[in-house]
Amino acid sequence: MSILDLIKMEDKMMPAHYKTLTEKEMEERVQSIKKRFGNRLIIPGHHYQKNEVIQFADFTGDSLQLAQMAKKNTEAEYIVFCGVHFMAETADMLTSKQQTVVLPDMRAGCSMADMANMQQTERCWEQLTDRFGDTIIPLTYVNSTAEIKAFVGMHGGATVTSSNAKEVVKWALSQKKRILFLPDQHLGRNTAFDLGIPLTEMAVWDPIEDRLDYEGEAERLQVILWKGHCSVHEKFTTNHIEATRKRDPEIKIIVHPECTREVVSLADYSGSTKMIIDTINQSEPGTKWSIGTEMNLVERIIESHPDKQIESLNPYMCPCLTMNRIDLPHLLWSLEQIEKGEPVGVIKVPEEVTVHALGALDRMLSLT
Ligand code: 13P
Ligand code: SF4
Repeated sequence: MSILDLIKMEDKMMPAHYKTLTEKEMEERVQSIKKRFGNRLIIPGHHYQKNEVIQFADFTGDSLQLAQMAKKNTEAEYIVFCGVHFMAETADMLTSKQQTVVLPDMRAGCSMADMANMQQTERCWEQLTDRFGDTIIPLTYVNSTAEIKAFVGMHGGATVTSSNAKEVVKWALSQKKRILFLPDQHLGRNTAFDLGIPLTEMAVWDPIEDRLDYEGEAERLQVILWKGHCSVHEKFTTNHIEATRKRDPEIKIIVHPECTREVVSLADYSGSTKMIIDTINQSEPGTKWSIGTEMNLVERIIESHPDKQIESLNPYMCPCLTMNRIDLPHLLWSLEQIEKGEPVGVIKVPEEVTVHALGALDRMLSLT
């Protein structure tokens, strides 16, 4: 972000006095605004949000559920999105022009989404299509900017989430011989591997070096993985899995597919945040679980299952710092600004981007 952008953002920063309010006072003020607005306002919350925010969510979900909810809800005038920037952009694109999407703290980005920009993507596409011709279809994880989604939509591809990646990759490979999967190499690799594609038929595109890292026969290449990752999920390692199993051979290990291939292959299960929640909900009392995903969610699962023994796969894990930017003071501030008629943190994706990105989003939603 440039200095100019930061100066512009100063105006949109939450006034300091919000930090001095008591929790009780903030909670009461949020409650009463929600009451006054009724169905005119909705607060969706991603599973990685903190409890202080999630307690006010009208709807919680994984990325797919939140996108589906945004498309379905035609009633709310204001959608105060408790999640990160790309999710709020997706909600804006899937809702009508009359609905306003607000992100309570504009600094709530996603470092993985920032690992693919348009210039890099265009350079990559040019080189790959020069080399492989019209044999590639692009897919992007929803954890990407609206511009990248538009690029993918314009080239006949689709978005994916961790809940539906298998269906979408299968569909894509029925359309073209190869896929370019942005920006998370791990979700792409784990999904393709689960579909039976050998690692020897996958390559990595390095967007910094503008280079395809592949040693196999070009004819066999099926999956081109963008060299991006989630810095939260890369902190789970095979050492954690080995140490956990050594300490307790009965414990079951469940991880998010943003973890590396090595970690996912050693775990018992892998899946989206919804899949992790559902698996633990359906497990027997007394079972033991070690979970490899973001801390706020792991802590919430631990609290809601006192009859099971649950821990984080990495006890020294940091939470997702950008998800954590959305806190109670920011939620209250954004609601009060809406009530004053001066909303801040409004997410408006330009029309020319929306039109193409919707192509990619709708393709995904129709497949799932
Ligand atoms: P899901 O909720 O779709 O599993 O995604 C996890 C995530 O990293 C969101 O940023
Ligand atoms: Fe992005 Fe990872 Fe945080 Fe999800 S957990 S928002 S992928 S940085």
